[in-house]
Amino acid sequence: MSGNAQEISLTPKKLGGYQFYRDVLGSPRYIVAPMVDQSELAWRRLSRRYGAQLIYTPMINAKMFVDASNKTYRNSNFDMINGEEGDPTTDRPLIVQFCANDPEQLLSSAKAVENHCEAVDLNLGCPQDIAKRGRYGSLLQDDWELIYKLINILHVNLSIPVTAKFRVFPTVEKTVEYARMLERAGAQIITCHGRIREQRGQNTGLADWDKIRAVKEAVSVPVFANGNILYQSDIDACLKATGADGVMSAEGQLYNPALFAGIEHPLTSPDYESDTQILIRHPKHADLALEYLDIVKDLKTTTSVSGIKGHLFKIMRPGLGRETDLREKLGRVKINPRGVKEGLQAYVDVCLEMKERMDRDANAAEGTLLKDLITTEPITGIKVMPHWLAQPYFRPSPEQKKAYAAAHAPVAVDPSSQAMAVDPTPASQPHPAAPKRSLAGDDASGPGSADGISASKKARLETTALPAPSEALAASLPPP
Ligand SMILES: Cc1cc2nc3c(=O)[nH]c(=O)nc-3n(C[C@H](O)[C@H](O)[C@H](O)COP(=O)(O)O)c2cc1C
Repeated sequence: MSGNAQEISLTPKKLGGYQFYRDVLGSPRYIVAPMVDQSELAWRRLSRRYGAQLIYTPMINAKMFVDASNKTYRNSNFDMINGEEGDPTTDRPLIVQFCANDPEQLLSSAKAVENHCEAVDLNLGCPQDIAKRGRYGSLLQDDWELIYKLINILHVNLSIPVTAKFRVFPTVEKTVEYARMLERAGAQIITCHGRIREQRGQNTGLADWDKIRAVKEAVSVPVFANGNILYQSDIDACLKATGADGVMSAEGQLYNPALFAGIEHPLTSPDYESDTQILIRHPKHADLALEYLDIVKDLKTTTSVSGIKGHLFKIMRPGLGRETDLREKLGRVKINPRGVKEGLQAYVDVCLEMKERMDRDANAAEGTLLKDLITTEPITGIKVMPHWLAQPYFRPSPEQKKAYAAAHAPVAVDPSSQAMAVDPTPASQPHPAAPKRSLAGDDASGPGSADGISASKKARLETTALPAPSEALAASLPPP
């Protein structure tokens, strides 16, 4: 055998498709989405403790990442100096996501991280204005030739596989054609976000699982389904409805990082039975927040100030909506980005105070089973857990609000007959006309606001009324 032939046989073979999914990634089904400023190293560590099997980094801009004069951007987006990002024992499996519109820039960026992750993903889903200006994400959806080149250059030149995450088109046919093109270009896993690019902000609405199913049936590489996941029961439903190989969650997992906890032991009933089962899946949110801060403190790698604040606002949301002084206190915390660890105590103090108040409320409800404290949000019909537990946050869509308002309009009096039209739907039940649910999720909400929440999102967070506590609980609690 010639030396050259030996060299070739010693070169590790790059696996693709299902072989890659099984042998390298370990057949993950529960996946944390790429999230700007939110799927950072500290969050990934926390998420893995609670059942996440594969995690994507936040989107990194390839153009800025390759710019040698901008070392700050590179180190703050994927810190290779401290060696913790992509560490084989603590931060894998990991997929690093880029947005790009220049194949060469994308390749250089991907080459820089190829030894620190299992695959490189291309963001084709970001619908935001910043993506419009930078010409990336879902704004490339009409330029198939360029997309093909972006994926193919990585497929041909990287030592690890390339994957792609995209939004669906208005029709199933176009969506399927597009997914096939991504596969032809070399994508070894595709993530299908079941919303079209116009579904963002107030128009987020529901993800279309039928389109995801059509994609899954049309390609032969693994498919991850993304959209509409709030509770564990949604995961099972999504896998069944779409036939996808895994479910990816963004917002649902941000509000409840234990979304995937205990999922390998499915509950026999869709309703949670015991307190233990509930607490595995919905730990006390102040405890989760403190655990997250502990991770931030222990890392050598710096976590961004906006990222930390964004996480705390989301994890503790059910408590912050009631304890408004703590919400204001959290909002006012200012930390020097160069001294995050030194400043962290201010966050710890807020979380400890939250913990004390939430424990007070939990103790006041002692003797009542947690399952009896679960209520139903009237507009969406979604379950609401007791307010000291981590849980998803959902915004009713404009249609849901309209349907609810119409169903609960003040009694109409017919002036001619004086007959009254009364809505038969009980106030505590979701109106049958209301769509099942709406979850937000733009494919790369940029950093920039103090707490990592965009201004419009923040406005929504702050103005949405909180679900009322159940009667049983309300009776036993101090006023909010
Ligand atoms: C805070 C935040 C940041 C996001 N950043 C990214 C990103 O960097 N790259 C990306 O492809 N999608 C990003 N997205 C979109 C999500 O990955 C996901 O596609 C979308 O939220 C729908 O999933 P969901 O219904 O589980 O939230 C982001 C979403 C959120 C909420």
